[in-house]
Amino acid sequence: MSLGSKSQSDTAAAQGGPGLVSVAMTVNSKAVSADVDPRTLLVQFLREHLRLTGTHVGCDTSQCGACVVHLDGRAVKSCTTLAASCEGSKVTTIEGLAQGGQLHPMQEAFREHHGLQCGFCTPGMIMAAVDIANRKGPNLDETTIRHELEGNLCRCTGYHNIVAAVKAGAAAMGGARQAAE
Ligand code: FES
Ligand code: FES
Repeated sequence: MSLGSKSQSDTAAAQGGPGLVSVAMTVNSKAVSADVDPRTLLVQFLREHLRLTGTHVGCDTSQCGACVVHLDGRAVKSCTTLAASCEGSKVTTIEGLAQGGQLHPMQEAFREHHGLQCGFCTPGMIMAAVDIANRKGPNLDETTIRHELEGNLCRCTGYHNIVAAVKAGAAAMGGARQAAE
């Protein structure tokens, strides 16, 4: 029977092309879709397909947190998330935090408290920090912040200013979920 080749080509067509899968999601409040290799990581989808290069890749071991974005309102490492698994989801990247030309309170706090030096880790730090504030509320102590930031590495600032920024940013958020999602 020739079922094999027919079903394969039918499947390929349904998937958006030979070897590709169609994926659609909302990124920073905008509907986006593409046909991608099924192995495409969310961070590749964001950076290479959507040109949202604020989300960084700092390691290949899922340790640094430079790639953190929000997926349906929760922080995830986009280097270990398949784009295809985000079908129908809402993704927020660092580019989507500021609203109406105003920095998000957590971005403002990092600026105010000098919570960055080279800035490479900063998008992931800020996305993680907003998630911490969303989950833990506006009154964060240093121990909680340091524990919660264990998955985010900074190679140059030292953590003192980052912790101060997260504390101030969470307070400024005032317990409101102020990420775009
Ligand atoms: S790039 Fe380092 S944890 Fe994702
Ligand atoms: S500011 Fe340079 S890695 Fe954190």
